[in-house]
Amino acid sequence: MTREILLRDVIDDDLPVFFAQQLDADANRMAAFTAKDPADRAAFTAHWATIRGDDTVTIRTILVDGQVAGHVLRFDEAGQPEVSYWLGKDYWGQGVATGALSAFLGQQQTRPLYARAARDNRASIRVLEKCGFTIVGEDKGFSNARGVEVEEVILSIPCPSPVGEGRR
Ligand SMILES: CC(C)(COP(=O)(O)OP(=O)(O)OC[C@H]1O[C@@H](n2cnc3c(N)ncnc32)[C@H](O)[C@@H]1OP(=O)(O)O)[C@@H](O)C(=O)NCCC(=O)NCCS
Repeated sequence: MTREILLRDVIDDDLPVFFAQQLDADANRMAAFTAKDPADRAAFTAHWATIRGDDTVTIRTILVDGQVAGHVLRFDEAGQPEVSYWLGKDYWGQGVATGALSAFLGQQQTRPLYARAARDNRASIRVLEKCGFTIVGEDKGFSNARGVEVEEVILSIPCPSPVGEGRR
């Protein structure tokens, strides 16, 4: 059965769902670079107010068959445009992140576009690779979710080649 994956603007009613998704311990461990205390509702509310009010950030709610499955966003990190995403566990392993990110990339024409993932977050790296990203670098940073420094990879979708390039 094919599921309908749609993106739409975030509405206030999505926030309790995103908060519940943020509480998931497995998701936090997987993503690694997460909120200091995922259960801190005031910090969550303040963070979402900030990013929803920031013109340089674009966030879309991911709907699967009309239900709020998660979110995908574009933001600037040290002057570079990056994407990220988070899905509720009920939606994992069904191609939802791949479908949602590829739809989002169709709406976000900025290139190059970057993404980061913990080196051991195979699911996220695979989602990015399926959407055209390749690994272009590495970094490491302190993971709030794991309480240790964690290695991460940096991925990018390059600018499109000029017309005709590659045909010689
Ligand atoms: C990472 C995440 C977005 C993946 O979403 P998803 O909808 O399950 O991904 P998809 O179903 O589109 O799967 C894409 C690919 O990853 C693979 N994959 C999915 N889960 C995997 C896992 N746990 N381990 C290894 N590969 C996995 C799938 O098999 C698929 O590859 P394939 O087509 O070659 O078989 C989701 O697990 C999530 O939200 N996790 C918590 C937050 C997070 O890690 N966000 C990313 C921060 S960088």
